[in-house]
Amino acid sequence: MQVALVGLGVMGKNLALNLIEKGMTLVAYDKNPDAGAELLSCAQSLGVEERLHIVSDLGDMVRRLEPPRSVLLLVPAGELVDAVCNELIEAGVSKGDIIVDCGNSNYKDGIARKLKYQNKFEFATMGISGGAEGARHGPAMMASGSEGGWERLVPWFEKVAASYNSESCFARVGQSASGHFVKMVHNGIEYALMQLIAEVYHLLRIGTGRSPKEVAEIFESWSEGELNSYLLSISRHILSLEDSNQTPLVDLIDNKVGAKGTGLWTAQNALELGIAVPSLVAAVQARHLTNTISTLAAKEMTYQAKETQKIDIDLEELKSAFYFASLLCYRQGLALIKGASRSHQWKVDLAKTLQTWRAGCIIRADYLDDIAKGVDFIDTLENEAKALRSITGQAIQTGLAFPVLASTQTYIATLSTPSNGHLVQAQRDYFGEHGIKTHSGETSHLTDLVDLPEKVR
Ligand code: 6PG
Repeated sequence: MQVALVGLGVMGKNLALNLIEKGMTLVAYDKNPDAGAELLSCAQSLGVEERLHIVSDLGDMVRRLEPPRSVLLLVPAGELVDAVCNELIEAGVSKGDIIVDCGNSNYKDGIARKLKYQNKFEFATMGISGGAEGARHGPAMMASGSEGGWERLVPWFEKVAASYNSESCFARVGQSASGHFVKMVHNGIEYALMQLIAEVYHLLRIGTGRSPKEVAEIFESWSEGELNSYLLSISRHILSLEDSNQTPLVDLIDNKVGAKGTGLWTAQNALELGIAVPSLVAAVQARHLTNTISTLAAKEMTYQAKETQKIDIDLEELKSAFYFASLLCYRQGLALIKGASRSHQWKVDLAKTLQTWRAGCIIRADYLDDIAKGVDFIDTLENEAKALRSITGQAIQTGLAFPVLASTQTYIATLSTPSNGHLVQAQRDYFGEHGIKTHSGETSHLTDLVDLPEKVR
């Protein structure tokens, strides 16, 4: 048997079928025997069951693998990953074997595990994107690490991953657990783009009084051009759907949004690294706020429902603003990856990272062609920058909330117009004597620059 796969949930089952269909012989295990039976029946319907062996315990799995062994983990992030690794060690996994954590694990856990298991087996990480459909027919695969063992797996992953312009969307993007970091940032950008699309819909629906179907038509016209993206396409489709009473699907759904955590990790790591990703952070907080409304905390904030105002929006200007804001969300994510790579010395290859995002993943978009040539062109988009400024200003006039749109406008304004940091420096030194930097770079205090005989108390 060539490769083992542990965890037959949505992603595990579909990746297993993809691997088997492409010719791999696979030993598969899930603690829930029904999951194994379900996979076997899918394999039988494909006529590839002879390449699949379902085992009822990890010991049997390890015995069936010729050393050096290759094991893929698709189990929920957290302590279960360690539990399975320890069980595999007890079952005989040893030096020279590779275990790849393919779940949405926190990269910090990946770094710790590489150390923890370094004398037991090679621990590697890979982020997989594209949901069930992607795992089944061609995911994006963001792998990392230089561990021995990848040579056994790379040919298979290059075969089962999505491809773009006949280049695989599988790549080893950098060292250590950078694969999981890149996937985490992918999800951070995903959150921001999802929220940005929702805000454009919100502006068109409530701000201009259009129906979901009319918004869907606008999104469809945008998708015919370079704004085509997976998230815009699914949003168009969702907005076109109605129930049997012609009630729009979106009007049947509550506003509270869940999250499994990758967007939050992106925000946390950006804040820890001091790298500005305001649009990605705003998207996480936007989800938090959807769960705050109608809670006791919200009631204690005593915000009464406010009237909103209708406005008329120039659709071409809105399209330019949406394009520009989308580009800036990717740019923030790429800056975070670059900063983390420098800080951790991961040597992340941004070109390879972008290649994994070209097809199969959730944030795939035609305008990644532009970004793949380098992000500097974003600075030349004067008309789009003006459009974002204008649309953001008009949107705010409605009284509605546009957290990602507004934070993206703030991001580009912060990086392209004079800062107000000097007053904040002065405030810090006024009450805390924390020191200030003058234009010449010298450190001093307010009292070195002006007479300050008496301070406000
Ligand atoms: C992907 C997705 C996936 C993610 C789900 C749920 O790339 O296929 O990003 O990995 O887990 O979208 O994410 P949230 O629950 O955090 O929204």
